[in-house]
Amino acid sequence: MSHSESIRRTRNCGELRAGHVGETVTLVGWARKRRDHGGLVFVDLWDRHGITQIVLNPEIDASAHELAHSVRAEFVLGVKGAVRARPEGTANAKMSTGDVEVYVDKAWILNTSKTPPFVIEADETPNESVRLKYRYLDMRRGPLLNNLILRGKITTAVRVYLETQGFTEVETPMLTRSTPEGARDFLVPSRLTPGAWFALPQSPQLFKQLLMVAGLDRYYQITKCFRDEDLRADRQPEFTQIDMEMSFIDEAMVREICEGMIARIFELAGKKIQTPFPIMTYADAMEKYGSDKPDIRFGLKISDVSGPVDKSEFKALKETLDSGGTVRAVAVTGGAAFSRKEIDDLIEEAKTHGAKGLAWIKVTAEGYQSSITKFFSKEILDEISAIAEAKVGDLLIFVADSKKVALDCLGRLRLSLARKLGMIDDSKFAFTWVAEFPLLDYDAEEKRYVAMHHPFTAPVAEDVPLFDTDPLKIRARAYDLALNGVEIGGGSIRIHDRSVQNRMFAALGMSDEEARGKFGFLLDALEFGAPPHGGIAFGLDRLMTIISGCESIRDVIAFPKTQKGFCPLTEAPAEVDQKQLRELGLKKDLR
Ligand code: AMO
Ligand code: AMP
Repeated sequence: MSHSESIRRTRNCGELRAGHVGETVTLVGWARKRRDHGGLVFVDLWDRHGITQIVLNPEIDASAHELAHSVRAEFVLGVKGAVRARPEGTANAKMSTGDVEVYVDKAWILNTSKTPPFVIEADETPNESVRLKYRYLDMRRGPLLNNLILRGKITTAVRVYLETQGFTEVETPMLTRSTPEGARDFLVPSRLTPGAWFALPQSPQLFKQLLMVAGLDRYYQITKCFRDEDLRADRQPEFTQIDMEMSFIDEAMVREICEGMIARIFELAGKKIQTPFPIMTYADAMEKYGSDKPDIRFGLKISDVSGPVDKSEFKALKETLDSGGTVRAVAVTGGAAFSRKEIDDLIEEAKTHGAKGLAWIKVTAEGYQSSITKFFSKEILDEISAIAEAKVGDLLIFVADSKKVALDCLGRLRLSLARKLGMIDDSKFAFTWVAEFPLLDYDAEEKRYVAMHHPFTAPVAEDVPLFDTDPLKIRARAYDLALNGVEIGGGSIRIHDRSVQNRMFAALGMSDEEARGKFGFLLDALEFGAPPHGGIAFGLDRLMTIISGCESIRDVIAFPKTQKGFCPLTEAPAEVDQKQLRELGLKKDLR
């Protein structure tokens, strides 16, 4: 059954065309569909390049006979034979090799296979837990493998691009101290220093800044980062960043270098994009889109209609205004046609996003329609329509609440409404830079200011005096890149002046001692001639998810974790030997 000769393929399973007819070829691959046609057996032979139909005539040769009768799904085969045109009327236009087939005169079974746990077919997607357990078979279906192949090409192109821009790839430690990205750390016990722990890096942030102090000038690294966060569709506990840091640059230079890189990536994926990307301030993004990663592929912008609503008689909304809240509205294109049920569902959805209610008015050719129009004069409704840019056929929706809740709720509703109304063009790639983030945010639970980005992000110079008067108003020299409503990258110009750094730590309520304890090595370095510098990191997995048109970040990662942070393939995390724990000086709970 097995064979001892070595088989050299002369072609792959995706390359034969009509022009190859007559050529004798050797192919290797996996058996897919097998069809018995009275004497002749047809097998689809798959490799990562494609599928070629092979024809086995049991009469021709003993090896072909054996193969024709014993071949099963996913057996590994080698075949030698002549390429011939498929008979009139049997060509398959859906296959790139569909004009031809290989008439086998010698065949080898290189390996057998157990019956796979699911049908291995490109368009039959089994449930995800089985896919993750048998990841190698899931990959053998094809689409996932194609995503990984594209990903590999893209990282190569990124390296070439950055090298030509004067960047050098430097590896930074995986066993290190806690970094300040704000998520929970994964910890690793130290055997040699019992009781002490390494943290896996949440990013190479501190090291890349040290490389700037070292004079490297331009650093990059395509590297794993680790964050023990609650997982979502676009988050993994370990993910990959294209991480960059540059000396003697400003925001415009960072944008230019990044746009060149992104353009190269999309070019490779065969997609056209337009650079430079638009720039939006954080304040605008929040006001108009209710998000710091706005999806600008469609309108449905949010407007402030507090002014006219305040002049109305509508108590439910006016009370919110009286207590310092706001009323925001969206004109939902075509929403006047919504049924009562659709509107009720929308109200329920608004409540899941924290709103107390959702008021609505239909704008129709016959006038404004709603149970609440009686509280508004025609002039006020016209004024609201003008502000919200509502047209006949639209549905005006309103949320009265704190600014935070109103914007967040409408920001989420606009996304789901756009999806429902078919307003999102999935072939479009809408990038936008988001700039001028606030430097600080207020953590109500901990009752203190926290860094929006991280504590080394520079404030806008003219805002520095606000440290003493109104810290929340300080703008940061931070920027994010959003693509189709996803944050694909973020970074900042850093503080290289020790006195500004001290003010930042003071604002964060961090004593000098505490700061020294956490980041002493960076603070020391900043005092030895740190150049002005800044950088950015892109989430490669997120970028690949969008480029590959996938729903989940897991579809662009070879061996991802589930939403619960578990790997069904290796069954990690798992228990370890008592001996290992003893060596690490970790006592095991003996209950
Ligand atoms: P930041 O924390 O914004 O910045 O991370 C950069 C980018 O990494 C991606 N990302 C993730 N992708 C998948 N799963 C996750 N859990 C995850 N977390 C983040 C996002 C994000 O935009 N050191 C700074 C960069 C800098 O200032 O230069 C940093 O890590 O796409
Ligand atoms: P009520 O006075 O609570 O019966 O509400 C009258 C209408 O106003 C209902 O359609 C509610 O959904 C809506 N509504 C109530 N509170 C709010 C709010 N905070 N924002 C928007 N609409 C609201």
